[in-house]
Amino acid sequence: MPFVDMKDILQHAYRHNYAVGAFDLVSLDFLQGIMDAAERCRASVILNLAESHFKYFDFNLIMPAVEAAARRASVPVAIHLDHGSGLESAIHAINQGCNGIMVDASSTPFFDNIQHTRAMVDMAHACGVPVEGKLGYIPNVEDEELQTHPGGITYTTVAEARAYVEKTGIDFLAVSIGTVHGHIKGKPKLDWQRLKQINEALGIPLVIHGGTGLSGDQFRRLIGNGVAKINYYTALSDVAAKLIRKNTRADNANSYTGLMKNICATIATEAERCMRLWGSAGRAAEVLSHCRPWSPVEHLIIYNVEGIDESRVETIMAEGRRVLSAIPGVREVVTGKAVQENAKYRYTWLIRFCHPTVIDSFRKHPAHVSFADKLFRPVANERIRIDFQTIETVVSGQNHQDIARSTEHF
Ligand code: 13P
Repeated sequence: MPFVDMKDILQHAYRHNYAVGAFDLVSLDFLQGIMDAAERCRASVILNLAESHFKYFDFNLIMPAVEAAARRASVPVAIHLDHGSGLESAIHAINQGCNGIMVDASSTPFFDNIQHTRAMVDMAHACGVPVEGKLGYIPNVEDEELQTHPGGITYTTVAEARAYVEKTGIDFLAVSIGTVHGHIKGKPKLDWQRLKQINEALGIPLVIHGGTGLSGDQFRRLIGNGVAKINYYTALSDVAAKLIRKNTRADNANSYTGLMKNICATIATEAERCMRLWGSAGRAAEVLSHCRPWSPVEHLIIYNVEGIDESRVETIMAEGRRVLSAIPGVREVVTGKAVQENAKYRYTWLIRFCHPTVIDSFRKHPAHVSFADKLFRPVANERIRIDFQTIETVVSGQNHQDIARSTEHF
């Protein structure tokens, strides 16, 4: 249950005047530290995976761990693609398990941004996934983006924000009002009047990128003006790097585990400080009672074929796995054959959708229509179909894993 709909998490925060931390993670240490903090202070949390960080880890490899962390949590969790570059990467992220996506087409002209974002919203909403749009330019003051976008901040305007939300149908808006990604040089000056007007004009949860370096007062004022999601990364990276430097100087630092000693705990301390400051701490139970679980749907077909041999069945299955797994919202395609020779039905499809909305969008998707009409239905006229959701899963050995985990905390 605690892997939940991100829209419900942020609507609750927006209505009740607090903000949820969206922490970018780059390793399992970050994942564990962020989750430990959320559990400790009973806060909702968003696990951010930024596309610009995919060079540091294997996204497909880390996602099962991120999803497992969300599903075993006792606090509300969502998994979000941060700064998605295009439709293809957004589909990939959803099919790998993200239940929120951000479109970052803010460096393109306004009209193009609307078009890109609209296409992304149509696709994501057909999967039940909410979308964060972005207007205005929030510079990245530290890495290679500094060279590609040397200019300063481009502020979000109220008129453009209104038109953008209306024409795209986004669920949350990231605004540019003076923050930057990374370390801010000098004292950040935020445009409060602009933020207030945007919030009054839109009435949807607002997002702040570049949370690092802002003061407690600034966070409180941001939240008071409609900010319900705060993106935060550099400060977590700073405390981790500082501890690794300290561990390097320590006597026992002759091993990887020696250098990484207490990394999760230090990340957790900083994430917890934010959760308390932003007001999400202590609200988990209330949020859980209001939000919808993020539960997949299993689309199961059992069938017999007529007029074709086994090798043709396998060819059709292979083609189905290829085309159907690329449809937005499809998490997995499993094809199978009965173990018993005399089984009443001989073959199966088990297709996992990320959300019930996909039952309908999958059925209408051109790739599915073409596969079903041309290849599958003509030969599989004896078939049974059911779409079901899991009521409860027990994973064998889960208790054992928890015991192992609690003894591994250095
Ligand atoms: P900071 O690294 O400045 O905290 O910003 C993170 C961010 O906005 C990710 O989208």
